[in-house]
Amino acid sequence: MSKERVLTGITTSGTPHLGNYVGAIRPAIALSRRSDTEAFYFLADYHALIKSQAPEMVHQSTKEIAAAFLALGLDTDNAIFYRQSDLPEIPELCWMLNCLAAKGLMNRAHAYKGAVAKNLEAGEDPDFRINMGLYSYPVLMAADILLFNAHKVPVGRDQIQHLEMARDIAQRCNHVYGSNKHPLFVLPEAVVDDKVATLQGLDGRKMSKSYGNTIPLFLPEKQLKKHINKIKTNLLEPGEPKDPDSSAVFQIWEAFATPEQTAAMRTEFENGIAWGEAKKQLFELINDELAEPRVRYQELLEDSSYIEEVLQAGAEKARVYSRPLMARMRDAVGIRPLG
Ligand code: TRP
Repeated sequence: MSKERVLTGITTSGTPHLGNYVGAIRPAIALSRRSDTEAFYFLADYHALIKSQAPEMVHQSTKEIAAAFLALGLDTDNAIFYRQSDLPEIPELCWMLNCLAAKGLMNRAHAYKGAVAKNLEAGEDPDFRINMGLYSYPVLMAADILLFNAHKVPVGRDQIQHLEMARDIAQRCNHVYGSNKHPLFVLPEAVVDDKVATLQGLDGRKMSKSYGNTIPLFLPEKQLKKHINKIKTNLLEPGEPKDPDSSAVFQIWEAFATPEQTAAMRTEFENGIAWGEAKKQLFELINDELAEPRVRYQELLEDSSYIEEVLQAGAEKARVYSRPLMARMRDAVGIRPLG
């Protein structure tokens, strides 16, 4: 049986937090260890440039996200782990796809439409502060995916539309340049795992950098404790029954606990556990899982030339796939040697 090819990208625009860990990093690492799967994971640093013109932040974030994956046990023998900007085939394919993708398709992209709506609300010009990177973001993402003929793309819900666009562009490319017998591209599918939690942040909204409500993944112990103590609760006293299902403390607990531990905590809530005690137990649970990787993470950050070596080796492995595909694509569009 041929292996299923899975690919996903992580935008390098911040410090990895518990929401990234539970929603993306932990499942990606689990998948990297499976022998029936060929996993491609990359640091989407070109995507980071769309939102951020802060060079030090992009650089630091790339280092931190790479270190986090390695510290948490990514299997780099089985999975191919690379940085988007190390593959010249990505922007090359991106251009060719730009020449196939309909502008009208991009007009419908949520991220772009959201930015326009915000401008209009503020009484600005619709295109105020919208760069071409944001506009054609879905095309770059399609290039990332199609270059490796990935079958499955694990993503958050907000990315489903981008996958639909990647399929649309792939289909168009197959129609224009391929044949039924030899389609150029596999049509990729989004995989949104309902079992994977979207973590709540300190204020109870989705944990997200843009809300400023995150708990960074590798905080030193003391600070982790402090952050957990900041998770919003209500004024119920010890002894008063508490509703687990509306509590961020419980929801985060569930993302780290075994089913038995979750059932036990549910009972504790019903019996009126004090918020301070629930948070103390939550700290211990999270800290147990992250204490060892935290040490490795700090070591890796201090030796970033090692991280660089791993990424370079990953890029070499990735290019074994991307070079021939790009050669086929060049030939298909008519860019060939003349004699
Ligand atoms: N846009 C994705 C996000 O913000 C990151 C990403 C870039 C990606 N290229 C990709 C995800 C290709 C999957 C496949 O989450």
